[in-house]
Amino acid sequence: MNDPRFAPGQTSGNFIRHFGSVLAMVMALRPVRPVYCLKPGELTAAAARFGAWFPGDVLYAVKCNPHPFILRGLYEAGVAGFDAASLSEIADARMVHPDAVVGLLNPVKPRGDIRDAYRFHGVRLFVVDHASEFEKMVDELGNVVDVTVLVRFATAPANALYELSDKFGATPEEAARLLAAVAGQGWAAGIAFHVGSQCKTPTAYTTALIEAGAIARKSGVALACVDVGGGFPADYLEEIPPPLQTYFDAISDGAQQAGLSCRLFCEPGRALVASACALVVQVQLRKGDDLYINDGVYHSLSEMVTGGLRYPVRLIRLEGGVAAETCAFRMFGPTCDSTDVLPTPFELPHDVREGDWIEIGQMGAYSNAVSTQFNGVWPNDYVTVDG
Ligand SMILES: Cc1ncc(COP(=O)(O)O)c(C=O)c1O
Repeated sequence: MNDPRFAPGQTSGNFIRHFGSVLAMVMALRPVRPVYCLKPGELTAAAARFGAWFPGDVLYAVKCNPHPFILRGLYEAGVAGFDAASLSEIADARMVHPDAVVGLLNPVKPRGDIRDAYRFHGVRLFVVDHASEFEKMVDELGNVVDVTVLVRFATAPANALYELSDKFGATPEEAARLLAAVAGQGWAAGIAFHVGSQCKTPTAYTTALIEAGAIARKSGVALACVDVGGGFPADYLEEIPPPLQTYFDAISDGAQQAGLSCRLFCEPGRALVASACALVVQVQLRKGDDLYINDGVYHSLSEMVTGGLRYPVRLIRLEGGVAAETCAFRMFGPTCDSTDVLPTPFELPHDVREGDWIEIGQMGAYSNAVSTQFNGVWPNDYVTVDG
């Protein structure tokens, strides 16, 4: 561990060291297990884009990639704080800086976590989407006065990869009632929504903000803040969404149309970290046009199944002499499970062989965060690289 931004924690894995490039890492390590290549430059650039253009404060969604290097890198690049979904994520975020804003923004929380987040971790920002959850918070926090409680409402489908409002979010009427209940408890009240992850319609935020304004008016409560959630998209293979700036313009426009002049938050995950990591895997066996690699759907590549994502890939062979002509390979992961097969092929040089490495780009979001330990294998090695 020779990078001062790296602090060991539950999610830290084996940090090896810094390399000038992915190729330099492969030459030095000849890795037989997958290696996450974290890219500090990309991380800083993504944080700077949000810092310059988002008209409010950014809370990074820890769930997307909880690696300490990512959390520290973002905080040092100006991200104000963190959206945590659990006590463990709160602890990870608190390790970054004792003064960082940390919200417990999972709409359904164990009772003890509400209490401990407030008492031991200084959490003052929470979310609810149902009267029973609000009652739970009243029971657990009693008559404390220094919390802000966001009321999350469900948004309409908006061309996102994952529609989160199927699972979370009050109706506008319930949301207005909940806002009044929060204010009645003497707590600062705000509104939250999430238009869905990898949302390709910037105006979804405008529509949701106009609805937030209507809910606030109906409740008669003066809002302390509005949290527009995450959902900002990243680039993937054959998936180039509108530029980020159009999302921020849509948000400014929505806040203005809704007459909302309170503080704004957002909770981006994917758009901050997707480009900040490449994954290097190795080919363990070739059978005709089938390749068996050391990562798969139970590890870093699950979003190829759950979201239909495709990533840019590049073959690395240290001896050189790679064929120029390519063909499509069916890709199998390292477990004994027959479902450990990627749903779309990788286009690679036709002479790919055992021992070659494959660099998979845009792997910073929902990769290490969702990897399981199925079959006793899991990617756990990290390096940092330039470029
Ligand atoms: C409450 C909440 N906030 C933020 C995020 C991050 O979303 P994204 O990675 O799409 O920006 C999620 C993702 O599931 C979420 O559930």
